Amino acid sequence: MQKKAQAAVQAAYKAGDLLRNRFRSNFKIREKAPANLVTELDIQAEKIILDILCLEYPGIPALTEEGLAISNESPKERWIIDPLDGTTNYAHGYPCFAVSIALEHYGQIKVGVVYDPMMDQMYTAIQGQGAFVNGEPIRVSHTRTLSKSLIGSGFPYYAWTNTNNNSSEWAALIKRVVSLRCDGSAALDLCRVASGSLDGFWELDLEAWDMAAGALIVLEAGGLVTRVEGSPFTPFQRSLLATNGSIHAELLDVLMASFSDDH
Ligand code: IPD
Ligand code: CA
Ligand code: CA
Repeated sequence: MQKKAQAAVQAAYKAGDLLRNRFRSNFKIREKAPANLVTELDIQAEKIILDILCLEYPGIPALTEEGLAISNESPKERWIIDPLDGTTNYAHGYPCFAVSIALEHYGQIKVGVVYDPMMDQMYTAIQGQGAFVNGEPIRVSHTRTLSKSLIGSGFPYYAWTNTNNNSSEWAALIKRVVSLRCDGSAALDLCRVASGSLDGFWELDLEAWDMAAGALIVLEAGGLVTRVEGSPFTPFQRSLLATNGSIHAELLDVLMASFSDDH
């Protein structure tokens, strides 16, 4: 796994360098759907990552957001890649975005790599070996109660029309915590839980490439990850609740009480 993790790190650095160098430059942006943007850098970053990983591991398929490589069946191993997590931020010149690469092995996430190019922070985890930023170990926070917690979340695309758009959950939580943050990159939000800047994070409607790497990094930093209803987490079932462990049950209670009927 160590060698595969190194290849993922190399690919994330290379894609991240491109994203940083082209940040706020003149690039093409189009709408996949209303309020769901994609830039030409999403595509270029994905290509860079695939070129590196496919050259080194031609036998390992990839599931990628922009679909340059598609693996929907469940092979023995596959990469799960979000070349640019935080596209809306990137398109608006808001400096919060990441490259996320995970390696799935027989249904389990074994490697997680998330790179924050603007902060030059490389978050890494291999299952059973701890979590790190730039090679230094990281741990979740020690906060014990929700009322002392800083919590992150995010809103799905199609929030205009989707009634399961996280607004009732957000409204309930703001009365119970120190404050809430919505920073627009789920992969980085998870790394902030892993490194203790956030005490918890939830989202209702994410894709496997948003969560796979970051969830492993939280677990390896000593945190807890479930679905928002408290059932076991898998990156393929859209919702996620990640915390330092101590506040998990309390946060889960508030979320459960606030779910809209459509949930
Ligand atoms: C998005 C980000 C955002 C989350 C959205 C995701 P993208 O990913 O992770 O934080 O709220 O639901 O789709 O589209 O920027 O890769
Ligand atoms: Ca994403
Ligand atoms: Ca993306």
